[in-house]
Amino acid sequence: MPTVTIQPTGEVIYLEPGETVLSGLYKAGFAYTVGCRRGGCGICKVDCRSGEFRYDHPVADSVLTEDERADDTCLSCRAVPATDLTIELRGENVRLVSTFLHQINEKARQRAEAHAAATQTAGTTHKE
Ligand code: FES
Repeated sequence: MPTVTIQPTGEVIYLEPGETVLSGLYKAGFAYTVGCRRGGCGICKVDCRSGEFRYDHPVADSVLTEDERADDTCLSCRAVPATDLTIELRGENVRLVSTFLHQINEKARQRAEAHAAATQTAGTTHKE
């Protein structure tokens, strides 16, 4: 279950495999300024500070230039995390718009951490 950490607030969002960054943020109850949500306008660009992502659909060079691709600009409505990501919004902070969805994401986080702890414990047991 990939995570996206949002700077500067430090919120951590848990995404389903294959889910885009923007979709995961919305499902977790967060929002920031976006436009078309289909890779056509470029408004949803964020800076990727760590981790890797891919695009499962083509992104036009008119939306994301070669320079932006090289400096890890992330088109959040199309980017699918390949690893855990840390992103930084440009000129705004993420807003919590649904406490209900945020609670669901928090439960997903707790399940993921419990699973990771159980897996680590099981791995320790096998090493002994
Ligand atoms: S919202 Fe338009 S490109 Fe992402």
